Amino acid sequence: MSDTAHRPAAVIILAAGEGTRMKSTTPKVLHRIGGDTLLGHAMRAARGAGADSTVVVIRHQRDRVAAFIEECNAKGESRVLVADQDEVKGTGRAAECGLDVLPADLTGTVVVTMGDVPLLTAETISQLTTAHVEAGAAVTVITSILDDAKMYGRVIRDADGNVERIVEFKDADETQRAVREINSGIYAFDADVLRAQLAKVTTDNAQGEKYLTDVLALAREDGGRVIAHVLQDLWQTEGVNDRTQLAELGRVLNQRTCERHMRAGVTIVDPASTWIDVDVEIGQDTTLLPGTQLLGATTVGAESVVGPEVTLTDCEVGDRATIRRAEGHLAVVHDDATVGPYSYLRPGTVLGAKGKIGGFVETKNAQIGAGAKVPHLTYCGDATIGDGANIGAGTIFANYDGVTKGHTNVGRHSFVGSNSVLVAPVDIADGAYVAAGSAITGAVAPGQIAIARGNQRNIDGWVDRRRAGTATADAAHAAERAAQSVEGPPSSETLS
Ligand code: UD1
Ligand code: MG
Repeated sequence: MSDTAHRPAAVIILAAGEGTRMKSTTPKVLHRIGGDTLLGHAMRAARGAGADSTVVVIRHQRDRVAAFIEECNAKGESRVLVADQDEVKGTGRAAECGLDVLPADLTGTVVVTMGDVPLLTAETISQLTTAHVEAGAAVTVITSILDDAKMYGRVIRDADGNVERIVEFKDADETQRAVREINSGIYAFDADVLRAQLAKVTTDNAQGEKYLTDVLALAREDGGRVIAHVLQDLWQTEGVNDRTQLAELGRVLNQRTCERHMRAGVTIVDPASTWIDVDVEIGQDTTLLPGTQLLGATTVGAESVVGPEVTLTDCEVGDRATIRRAEGHLAVVHDDATVGPYSYLRPGTVLGAKGKIGGFVETKNAQIGAGAKVPHLTYCGDATIGDGANIGAGTIFANYDGVTKGHTNVGRHSFVGSNSVLVAPVDIADGAYVAAGSAITGAVAPGQIAIARGNQRNIDGWVDRRRAGTATADAAHAAERAAQSVEGPPSSETLS
C-alpha cells in the first residue's frame, strides 16, 4: 500500500447467493482456484487492503461457509465477521445485513465486494478507496467498458457525463441496454450514506429484490457525489457462475502467479502447463520445467530445478536441489539434494543436503541424512538413515507387521546391500554393512557385516538329469565342450 492510500473502515463481502449454475453440493464460494477458495481470495484482498473490519454475508449453505470462515479465523489471520442475510432478497439487503454486524456509529469508507469474484486485488480496493476519499464522493462504483455488456447492470450517465444511476438489465429499456459501461458490483460507499440510503431502498423492480445499485441514484438525489472508477483489467471484476468460468479464472490466476514469479527471477519454461498456488514461494534462478505443480504452502529455494512432471504439495525444497518426475507431500528436500525420476515422497520425508532419492523409491516418515543415498527401487518407511549411508537397490524397510509400525535406524556411512529386507524395529549401527539379499531382524553393531540368507550350493549335472533335451541342456553341453577343448576334461566332483 502506498503512503497516500486510504484504508477502508470495512469491507463487506456478499456471498449469500445460491450459485445454482455450479450444479454442486459444495457452496459456490467454497470452490477452489490457485490453492484457495473463491471466498478465501476475496478475504485476502480485503485483508491486503488493510480493512479495519471484514464482514462476509452468507445465507445459502450458511453453516459450511461459516465453518470455512472460522477455519481462516483460527489460523490467526485477521478476524472476519459473519452476517446472516434474512429472507429479504437482493444485494441491497445483503449489504444492509453486513452493516448490521458492524458498529452502528461506524464512519469512513465501506467497500462492498463479492465472494465469487476471486481476482480482485488488494491494490484495486486501495485505489478505489483512495479515489473515493480524494473525490469526497458519497459512492464510487467500479465500472468497465465491455464490447458485449451481457446481463450486467448498466451505468447511466447524465448529459455532463456524471454517473446518475445504475439500471439492472432486467429493468432496462432498449436505449439503456445499448450502454456498454457496466456495473462491476464493487463499490466504495461513505458509511453514513450507505446506511441512510439503504433504509429507503424498496423491492419495487423486475426481480422483487432490494437492489444495492439503487443507493447510487438515492445518494445523488440527496446531493451526494457519485463517481465511477473505470477499471481496464476486466478479469479483476469477473465472477464465477459455472464451472467453465471457474476453470477460466483459475487459468488466469495461475498465469498471473507465474508472471509474478518470472518477474522475480524464476525461469518457467512453459507457464501454460505449470500450476502454482498463490502462497508458494520460489527463489531466484530456480527453473520450473513443464508439467510442474507447486501447491499449498510449498517453498522452493534458489537455483533449483523442478520438473518436468513434478507435483509438490506443502513441501519445502532448498537451494540447488533437483527434483524430476516426482510426487511429494509434506516432504523436505535440503540443499543440493536430488530426487527422481519416479519418486514418491510421502509426509515426514526429510532428505538431507546432497542426499539422493532415486527412481521408483517411495519414502514416508523417513529422515535421510546428508549425502545419504536411496537410489533405486526402494520402500523406505519409518526410518532414520545417517549421513553418507547407502541403501542398495530394491531394499525394503518392512515397517508394518500387520498390527503395529516399527522404526528402522541405519547409521552413518553404513551400507545396505541390494535386495535386503530390514524388518522393523531394527538398528543398524554407524559404519556397518548388510550383505545383499539379507533379511535383517536383529541389531548390527559398528564395524560388523550382517549376512542373513541361505548359503549358495552348486549341484553338478542337475540340468542333464532334470532338464534333458532342453535348449538349456544343449547350451550347457556346448559350453562344456568348448571348455574341454581349451582346458582339458572337467572335474567330475558332484554335490547332491
Ligand atoms: C449485480 C448487480 C449488477 C452488476 C452485477 C455484477 C445488483 C442489483 N445488481 O447483479 O448491477 O452488474 O452484480 O456482477 O446489485 N448476493 C447476496 N444476497 C442476495 C443476492 C446476491 O449476498 O440476496 C450476492 C451474491 O452471492 C453475489 C453478489 O451478491 O456474490 C451478486 O449477486 P448476483 O445475483 O450475481 O447479482 P447480479 O444480478 O448478477
Ligand atoms: Mg452475478
